[in-house]
Amino acid sequence: MCASSQPVSFQIDKELEIPSIPLVLIKIIQTLDADSGSAKQLEELILHDPALSARILRLANSAFYSFRARVKTISHAITLLGMNLVTSLAIGINIFDTFTKGAKGEAALINQLWTHSCGVGVLVRKIWSQKSGVPKEAEFAFLCGLLHDLGKVVLFKTYPGKYGPIFAAEKTETDMAISGYEEENYGVDHAVIGEMLAKQWGFPKELAGLIRKHHDLSETDTPMVAAVMLADQLAKELKIGYDGDHGLHSQAYLPEILSKLSISEGEWDRLKEFASQE
Ligand SMILES: [Fe+2]
Ligand SMILES: [Fe+2]
Repeated sequence: MCASSQPVSFQIDKELEIPSIPLVLIKIIQTLDADSGSAKQLEELILHDPALSARILRLANSAFYSFRARVKTISHAITLLGMNLVTSLAIGINIFDTFTKGAKGEAALINQLWTHSCGVGVLVRKIWSQKSGVPKEAEFAFLCGLLHDLGKVVLFKTYPGKYGPIFAAEKTETDMAISGYEEENYGVDHAVIGEMLAKQWGFPKELAGLIRKHHDLSETDTPMVAAVMLADQLAKELKIGYDGDHGLHSQAYLPEILSKLSISEGEWDRLKEFASQE
């Protein structure tokens, strides 16, 4: 594991040259408000960015979404996936791209984190749509899952060549979870750092709070926190991408989280089956 230097309190504006929020992202976030956005507007924004368009099409055609027909255009993707989901994807892709630029030698690790984040997004969405049945809320749940580990992306960017080894190191049951190593080295963990950036970028309050609380067991009374924890654990166990540890410590809390979400054993088994198929 990395040499533990004197922990310093992480200050987002001092340590990190915060990439200014890309204009396209501000516009896309504005379309999150269903009243102000339209599918046509979203399509035009995405089409303005060829790299973003290509990645959305690739995702729409990936194993995450098993559509029979090939998704060839952005408007087709919006029709099939829904406007809110495409909006969330555009936000996630844009953020990961902004931070990955220049991450020499660590792009593969960030890609693993991206796969993990997409997986958690899909799983939280599934858990939430079973629970609430409100489609708009399920799309917000997807965004929460997609961005829960935002702080790790910031750490890759802030400490090039240094955070990667901490992230990639194999951790056994006797080792700490990744948050412990982050605290040891940077004074705070990715949950705190993620919330700082989310606030700075003017993300919805609920999303910023969720990012902060997603490992805090005293917050599991908030259903979205519990749902993200559950999806995170499931993605870790099934090795959908990688987020820096395999959740060996959090396994013990699973029964408590399931009961907070009123998920029965049968429902949990079906969820695991869904996740392994996805
Ligand atoms: Fe996390
Ligand atoms: Fe995670």
